[in-house]
Amino acid sequence: MARASRPGRLITGRRSSPYLPIIVALLMSTVVLLMLVALGIFSLPVGSKGGPHISRHRFRRSAFESKEEEERGEQWTELLSWEPRAFIYHNFLSKEECEYLIKLATPRMQKSTVVDTKTGKSVDSRVRTSSGMFLRRGQDKIIRTIEKRIADFTFIPVEHGEGLQVLHYEVGQKYEPHFDYFHDEFNTKNGGQRIATLLMYLSDVEEGGETVFPSAIFNSSSLPYYNGLSSCAKKGLSVKPKRGDALFFWSLKRNGTKDPTSLHGGCPVIKGSKWSATKWMRLHKFELGNPL
Ligand SMILES: *[C@@H]1O[C@H](CO)[C@@H](O)[C@H](O)[C@H]1NC(C)=O
Ligand SMILES: *[C@@H]1O[C@H](CO)[C@@H](O)[C@H](O)[C@H]1NC(C)=O
Repeated sequence: MARASRPGRLITGRRSSPYLPIIVALLMSTVVLLMLVALGIFSLPVGSKGGPHISRHRFRRSAFESKEEEERGEQWTELLSWEPRAFIYHNFLSKEECEYLIKLATPRMQKSTVVDTKTGKSVDSRVRTSSGMFLRRGQDKIIRTIEKRIADFTFIPVEHGEGLQVLHYEVGQKYEPHFDYFHDEFNTKNGGQRIATLLMYLSDVEEGGETVFPSAIFNSSSLPYYNGLSSCAKKGLSVKPKRGDALFFWSLKRNGTKDPTSLHGGCPVIKGSKWSATKWMRLHKFELGNPL
């Protein structure tokens, strides 16, 4: 009983002090400030680790982003090459997002086609033996979140993107080296030329299935994982599929001319199976309602 009455006595004891309101106000603003920091409304750089690695995203922007980081794992950007201009966004998608895209696409998979350079029509081809399907841009909340993230990372607005294409490669299936830019007039009517591509790996592949750039200008002996690549992948600069990782590369040079070093292919899957999702980005806004 005696103890319970103590705080009351303390306050009455200080009632005469003119500093009390100021002290209380200072304390309260400190508490509010700390709460804002904890909620991530104010950003603080996370340690000195982020300093020297300019290619790494180590700055928290909001509480939401740190929650996202928890789901997607550590994210960092790797510069792959300047010719072609290519980057890898590690852990770009979460495991759940990869599984969602596969689940959404599975019932609608069809044998992949390629664009006929003369007619601009889609045709069956031996150079591309995978199966695939197109999702509609902005189709649902998860797709919109992914498309917004793609725009944030690539600086290319969502409206410039075609619908995501989900692809599936079984053992032996591949996509021979090709360019993503068009050679015909027909396919550039809506949105203009394809300028860049983001290729997201939705699964790991036990062996093979690498993305290879056979015309890339690079030093092959500098690749730390060179010995683990399939013979197809050793013919150029290659990326091993890893679930959640995204490969971003440009098909055009900075002055808008076609970049022949962007030639790329999907090596045959040797063991396991490969799922990927591709976002092609155009020079101008790409109107919806068109299949291409
Ligand atoms: C290629 O990379 C290796 C290993 O990083 C290095 O020792 C070599 O000097 C490089 N060669 C050239 C031509 O840059
Ligand atoms: C565009 O840039 C490349 C080098 O990046 C150069 O070789 C080419 O001549 C340029 N083309 C035009 C039309 O400016």
